[in-house]
Amino acid sequence: MTRHPKTQAGPRTVEDGGTSVVHLTLNGQELLAHPGQTVGAALVDAGIQSWRTTRKNGRPRGLFCGIGICYDCLITVDGAPNQRACIVPVCEGMQLSTTAAPVDAATDAPNDGGTKR
Ligand code: FES
Repeated sequence: MTRHPKTQAGPRTVEDGGTSVVHLTLNGQELLAHPGQTVGAALVDAGIQSWRTTRKNGRPRGLFCGIGICYDCLITVDGAPNQRACIVPVCEGMQLSTTAAPVDAATDAPNDGGTKR
């Protein structure tokens, strides 16, 4: 994967010359991110393009609009389901999970504020 020439973003290591890093976990696996990145940017930066699937057809989803409008990037952040990864900034020790949130049986919609697809 080619990196953006201005940010030179790429996988982080603890030994990367003292660059400030934020430690995250995704389903228990450690990831490193830049301070100020969004969760979605950190996941893509780590080579993770998709972190959930659609309920009906199991199609992969990750960043799409990148500005908080489409809800494709939903992820569980520190136990809070259906957070938009593209607008949530990373925090030290953040625990991310791709576990699907419970579906409201009455409406067959995810608990994401009423967005129906
Ligand atoms: S990518 Fe569209 S809401 Fe996050």
